Amino acid sequence: AALDPAETSPVSKALAPEQGLQNGAFLTTAEGLRLPDTDHSLKAGPRGPSLLEDFHLREKITHFDHERIPERVVHARGAAAHGVFRAYGSAGSVTKAPFLAEQGRETPVFVRFSTVLGSRGSADTVRDVRGFAVKFYTAEGNVDLVGNNMPVFFIQDGIKFPDIIHAGKPHPDREIPQAQSAHDSFWDFVSLHTEATHHVMWAMSDRGIPRSYRTMEGFGVHTFRLVDADGATSLVKFHWKPVAGVHSLVWEEAQLAAGTDPDFHRRDMADAIDAGAFLEYELGIQVMPDSDEETFEGIDLLDPTKIVPEELAPVQPIGKLTLNRNPDNYFAETEQVAFHTGHLVPGIEITNDPLMQARMFSYLDTQLTRLGGPNFAQLPINRSHAPVNDNLRDGMHQSVIHRGVAPYLPNSLAGDEGPEPATEPQGGYVQVPRLVHGEKVRANPVSFDDHFSQATLFYASMSPVEKLHIVEAFTFELGKVYEQPIRERALGVLANVDADLCEQIAAGLGMPAPVGKPADNVQPSPALSQISPVPGPIA
Ligand code: HEM
Repeated sequence: AALDPAETSPVSKALAPEQGLQNGAFLTTAEGLRLPDTDHSLKAGPRGPSLLEDFHLREKITHFDHERIPERVVHARGAAAHGVFRAYGSAGSVTKAPFLAEQGRETPVFVRFSTVLGSRGSADTVRDVRGFAVKFYTAEGNVDLVGNNMPVFFIQDGIKFPDIIHAGKPHPDREIPQAQSAHDSFWDFVSLHTEATHHVMWAMSDRGIPRSYRTMEGFGVHTFRLVDADGATSLVKFHWKPVAGVHSLVWEEAQLAAGTDPDFHRRDMADAIDAGAFLEYELGIQVMPDSDEETFEGIDLLDPTKIVPEELAPVQPIGKLTLNRNPDNYFAETEQVAFHTGHLVPGIEITNDPLMQARMFSYLDTQLTRLGGPNFAQLPINRSHAPVNDNLRDGMHQSVIHRGVAPYLPNSLAGDEGPEPATEPQGGYVQVPRLVHGEKVRANPVSFDDHFSQATLFYASMSPVEKLHIVEAFTFELGKVYEQPIRERALGVLANVDADLCEQIAAGLGMPAPVGKPADNVQPSPALSQISPVPGPIA
């Protein structure tokens, strides 16, 4: 019994999206039975009681009772749009991934923007990191670039992710979001884990309150490894640059909008698309030579709390993203989309960044719960546009009628037409061989100990008004911390970033400013001291 890829694919006729149109002339049950009345339950006389045999009442109520699925454990609030990515062809020298490398190649995309900490019903304009997750439906399989609107992250090792999220989410006793109540646990965490300092600076800057998704940058954050057609590799960072420029709200606007229009960002995006003012971003890469050390100009490329300044490695444009269509159904598309850093195609690989390594586990794992079992790749929004022949079978919510009796490999029953693993020349995903060795330890490289040099550089690159906004943001947020020792510790951290910044915030809090204590044995990249940061345009 030969396996027919068209029949065994989850992208089978049985799952055609048109099936969901529900445009018949009559109201029916889920089984297609025409219904005469959906306003009155079946009762024993007009005054009841309702009868258990009323299958329509039971089906209607039961389905409603189960309409909700768990919200995402992080990034629960989001809004999304469809669009297209067009490659300029300039990436052809560094990657063999056709959707990036081939000039003019157009790839459909689905992009979900999100806040991180708020629940599904929270306000759009709160101070937070924004998710910028892009699913490319490439002809070689789906690729997800699951990024944020800030180029660095709070922690260096994914094992701390539950801790930073527990510290930032609403307090477990009263479930009061920190933005409206005590801020103690967040500031406790980031002042005890000083690797967070650089990201905290970005979050307290105007980047934490974007004006619109249209005017927000996106970053892959981690260093990726690109592989060209000859097998040569480079290390890269991905950047999305909005064609409309980078613009933020001011704090008063953000607070007003959170009260008067909590849907400010999602409305702005949907209205813009409806009006034909499509969202546009250029994708760019910073290209660094690959090496055993995985450093560039003294910057550890495996440390996700570090950027590579554009003065040292310019961002080279490789394609353009246009978001031009609103989703038809929030639940089916925006809620059910499942991004995963492990969705890759030949030409793109991850690196040993310990934050990324944990993410490679987390996304599929959480989606098994959130989307109710292992078959969510069959949902319309998640389906690959490349043929699927995966030998994955059965499970909750299986929607495909697989044919054949031999879903295993190798097998001698499927004949010549059965699926075979593809070799690299045939387009199979084969990781570039790299030597891995080392003692089994729970430890970071020494380079990860530099927690402040890039936070200092970030502050120095701000214009006077942007610096003022940062001072005001810290003063406001730390002003909500009840525990005095946490405020003192947070100020102590800021003293290591910039004495003037620390003094201004301390003055605002009515506290003495501590003096910075540079850590021993930390050697920041000498290249950083040669950069004269030029403040960018006022955000
Ligand atoms: C969700 C980005 C680190 C676990 C997301 C989303 C984005 C994102 C954009 C929303 C996806 C969507 O719209 O559906 C990032 C970035 C990170 C990072 C840029 C660091 C650079 C981590 C780490 C972990 C993690 C370290 C865990 C070890 C999750 C989980 C979700 C999520 C569980 C929910 C996914 C779902 O339910 O579909 N992340 N994340 N993230 N992230 Fe991350």
